[in-house]
Amino acid sequence: GPEVAQLVASRVLDVPDFPQPGVMFKDLMPLFADGDVFRQVIDGIIAYHGRDSFDAVAGIEARGFVLAAAIAYASGVGVVPVRKAGKLPRATHAASYALEYGEATLEVHQDAFTAGRRVLVVDDVLATGGTAEATLDLVERAGGTVAGFTVLLELGFLKGRERLAPRPIHALLTV
Ligand code: PRP
Ligand code: MG
Repeated sequence: GPEVAQLVASRVLDVPDFPQPGVMFKDLMPLFADGDVFRQVIDGIIAYHGRDSFDAVAGIEARGFVLAAAIAYASGVGVVPVRKAGKLPRATHAASYALEYGEATLEVHQDAFTAGRRVLVVDDVLATGGTAEATLDLVERAGGTVAGFTVLLELGFLKGRERLAPRPIHALLTV
């Protein structure tokens, strides 16, 4: 609800020209560092989707890991890391995508999900949607069903939501 959106708004710092000129970096470390706010955000995400609507949580390296682990622990389910290329030791599925700056590849273990496992996917920020699009593709290729996708902050002007359509996106705050 609006209370959680206000909490996110109060704990995001705009950092100009990081990691390169012209990019306004959205730093959510103050939110992670505030115990009361972090707990309310995690509980709000679980309440939005419903505790029984997912069987696993997938977190996107690196900032999504923080959220995914907390949601999984509080919900009594497991957490699956979606990692940047070259980090996972066994057979993987891989998906490449263009970032707002640069390019990257994400991977997930091929056996990460038993068939039909309902997976809640989380990340901190939705910008162009490339990261999310690759991740949702990987979850499905690894046998999971996407139960939902949540971000703390959506940058509406970058049109990530349109890129991911018709998949529903849940953002605690859209700017
Ligand atoms: C940032 C952010 C999202 C992604 C969003 O991660 O945490 O994961 O970019 O961008 P997109 O919607 O345009 O794909 P980044 O790749 O900078 O890495 P990090 O989480 O490891 O810091
Ligand atoms: Mg990230």
